[in-house]
Amino acid sequence: MRTIRTIAELRGYLKRARGQEMTVGLVPTMGAFHAGHHSLMRAARAEHDEVIVSLFVNPAQFNDAGDLAAYPRNESQDAAEAAELGVDVLFAPPVAEIYPPGFSTSVQVAGLSEILEGAERGPGHFAGVCTIVTKLLNIVGPDVAYFGQKDAQQVAVVKRMVRDLDIPVRLEALPTVREPDGLALSSRNVHLGPDDRIRALALSRALKAAEDAVAGGERDARRVHEIAAAQLRDVDAEYLAIVDPANFDALTTIDGRALVAVAAHVGPVRLIDNVVLQPVPVAT
Ligand code: PAF
Repeated sequence: MRTIRTIAELRGYLKRARGQEMTVGLVPTMGAFHAGHHSLMRAARAEHDEVIVSLFVNPAQFNDAGDLAAYPRNESQDAAEAAELGVDVLFAPPVAEIYPPGFSTSVQVAGLSEILEGAERGPGHFAGVCTIVTKLLNIVGPDVAYFGQKDAQQVAVVKRMVRDLDIPVRLEALPTVREPDGLALSSRNVHLGPDDRIRALALSRALKAAEDAVAGGERDARRVHEIAAAQLRDVDAEYLAIVDPANFDALTTIDGRALVAVAAHVGPVRLIDNVVLQPVPVAT
């Protein structure tokens, strides 16, 4: 595996792949790899001739300088893990390569970017995500780009952007990877102390409670919300929402696919998680 730091070098490398009609898979990341990232890399490796993993802690999507500074970074460990998984290129550019002096463009998806994560993290968050993802798609030109379903709203926003801007790429969202006790893997989990690690299970418990309620026949979204919210007493919940997974419109009745999304502060860490519910008729 080689590490590439400039756009020009990556484009030069990919020119050869394109000349040989190879397929290219891109896994955009901010590093601090865990098993969730590994699953994206494995899927890309299984499906493409060339696998490019980008590692860029994107300052444009952080609304809080402290959060950006605290974001875990360990490039040498990440590079070793990516190499082990058969990744061809780790694209790890410095900030000035991506945002040179005078950089003044931003890609925004209206509406969908302004609710839930957008409302909590500020309007710049998804604009930052969309701008870097657009740049990465333009730089790499992958056939497929891989994202984790844990960031369900990010997936929805990026899908909308790709559709609206006719970007020629297929997006794949892979399932959230969890610890055996249910905690969704996140690069931020390393900042959870032992007590907070236990309290953090409230998020997956809330989602499970919603899932069980719907499996048991409950269809009233307000009632499902109450049942799930009861599990969040020990954490500082930001939102718990039951929405249509395609457009993030709030649901009042769960009669088709429904996304339950939650965000909460647990000690010093902000966590998100979600589950997609697919109600099946209850036997009578
Ligand atoms: O999900 C992430 O890690 C980031 O938001 C992404 C997609 C790599 C853009 O910086």
